[in-house]
Amino acid sequence: MVKIISVASAKGGVGKTVTVANLGVALAGVFKKNVVVIDCNLSNPHLGLYLGMFSTWPVTLNSVLNNEADLEKAMHKHATGLRVIPASFEVRDLQGMTLQRLRSRIRSTFNGYDTDMVILDSSPGITKEAFLTVRAADEILFVATPHIPAIVDITKCCHMLKRTDANPVGIAMNRVRNQKYELRDEEVYKFTKLPILAKIPEDEHVLRSTNFKIPVVSMMPRAGASRAFVRLAAVISGEEYQPPGEGILARLFGRFRGRHAEEDAGFESLAKSRHDFIAHPLR
Ligand SMILES: Nc1ncnc2c1ncn2[C@@H]1O[C@H](COP(=O)(O)OP(=O)(O)O)[C@@H](O)[C@H]1O
Ligand SMILES: [Mg+2]
Repeated sequence: MVKIISVASAKGGVGKTVTVANLGVALAGVFKKNVVVIDCNLSNPHLGLYLGMFSTWPVTLNSVLNNEADLEKAMHKHATGLRVIPASFEVRDLQGMTLQRLRSRIRSTFNGYDTDMVILDSSPGITKEAFLTVRAADEILFVATPHIPAIVDITKCCHMLKRTDANPVGIAMNRVRNQKYELRDEEVYKFTKLPILAKIPEDEHVLRSTNFKIPVVSMMPRAGASRAFVRLAAVISGEEYQPPGEGILARLFGRFRGRHAEEDAGFESLAKSRHDFIAHPLR
């Protein structure tokens, strides 16, 4: 049976969407898993943007929820093989939308479809939208930063989980700077009773990749955040992960070329790829 994982946090801006995009790309691209990611943040759908798949999609999750199409029709293929179900950017497509019956729709579409995992990107808070996303899932992966508000908000989410069958599996700790003022692992565990499955460093490459609309795992595979996302994908899928070798020659060559040489080389073409977003008028 296909496993449905919701990536959740009551706090906004902690990195849920970045995590879904990179986890999906790592699972599909590195570990060759059959994965579908679904943008369940209907109010502020950004998953397509993070994956560089912004366009005037005729069929989105909104069409499915409106009974105009089935989930299969709303699926778009990313270059890595990851399958993506975006939500509509159009404000008018939000009217009357509800994520009711999401779980049964996912089950009936993807059971027997050779799909290993369906990952849901959730809206923040404990709103109806967030609750229905969590209710559709078997497992919950929390994303937090090592700061008190984000950790307090996890317990708020756990409260919401009591009314569902979903099982919290752990925390992806994001934007870690290894500063003394950050919450320590044992403090986080004491408060949440959840394990930390991965620590993703604060990494400028994530911000760069966001504006280039290429997940950092693809754009800068050697960046600290990329390695951490691949490690998280290994934990989630139960795969072994051998970090890419950082031999002395590779390190010297990297230094010689400059820190950001990889993306700087293709800067012009990457910058051009932003135009489809900027040129697209929202209705
Ligand atoms: N590890 C990181 N290092 C640097 N910036 C990050 C990191 N993770 C996320 N960000 C940035 O934080 C912002 C919010 O991330 P996002 O995934 O949209 O949060 P959420 O979905 O939880 O609201 C984005 O601009 C993203 O580029
Ligand atoms: Mg988000």
